[in-house]
Amino acid sequence: MNLSPEYLTGRYNETGTLDPATVKAFQKAIIANYRANPRPMPWRETRDPYRILISEIMLQQTQVERVKAKYAEFLAAFPTFSDLAGAPLPHVVRVWQGLGYNRRALALKRCAGEIMERFAGQFPATIEELESLPGIGPYTARAVAAFAFGTAEAFIETNIRAVFIHFFFHNRDKVGDREIMPLVAVTLDRGDPRTWYYALMDFGMMLKQSHPNPGRRSAHHARQSRFEGSNRQLRSRMLRAVLEQPGITAGALAELLGAEPEAVRRNLEAMQREGFLGKRGRGVAVRG
Ligand code: ADE
Repeated sequence: MNLSPEYLTGRYNETGTLDPATVKAFQKAIIANYRANPRPMPWRETRDPYRILISEIMLQQTQVERVKAKYAEFLAAFPTFSDLAGAPLPHVVRVWQGLGYNRRALALKRCAGEIMERFAGQFPATIEELESLPGIGPYTARAVAAFAFGTAEAFIETNIRAVFIHFFFHNRDKVGDREIMPLVAVTLDRGDPRTWYYALMDFGMMLKQSHPNPGRRSAHHARQSRFEGSNRQLRSRMLRAVLEQPGITAGALAELLGAEPEAVRRNLEAMQREGFLGKRGRGVAVRG
């Protein structure tokens, strides 16, 4: 069967759906590519929901290679939900250093706490329960359910988005996720969602290397902003300094980092609101 983007886009636009033969052929092509060239990743070797959740949270906004480097270290420090729930937040944040977007570490620790308390240490298996946990949104709930339990639910992330835009939205711009979701649902291999999603993600990663990134034609495409000189960088430097000097004052922090006192104060307020930092003497410290 012809699987060119021109042809597939045309067929989809004519009929508004995909016939079973086209679905089968599309699935076969994606899976064949995966079988020929699977990308080994440690979190694909396990069905332990804890390990899978950690990987999915780390992979948000962070490249696979960077996550690979941190994943083993994090699991060695916190092997189970119980260990993570019981660990002091400063320890968790310290191990997280280098991945950025530290709010994810805080959310993971809270998530572990709720699993221990609300779910008696048992990782919940329904999408609704998963979405009720801190840091777990519609994507993460469905991805973790697919990879840990083999649940067949449609979801989209950046690599999956690239595959569908490439094949079914040829010559289109500003493609919305709402346009893509029905295609994700109709092509989903319900017999083996786990392998199917790994294969889709790998295909998307390959497309990004070989084509002008199809993700740029998404309505949701936003390039990650520069880290150098950003507020994200300032936050990360502040957190590092507070870990090293618990109780440090806003003024001392601004001086140490050569940063605008107003920017430092604003970030300190935000990090206290988020629950990262608490008061310690005249200054602040990471809580817990
Ligand atoms: N394998 C499992 N989850 C993944 C993700 N979010 N990105 C890339 N590969 C993955």
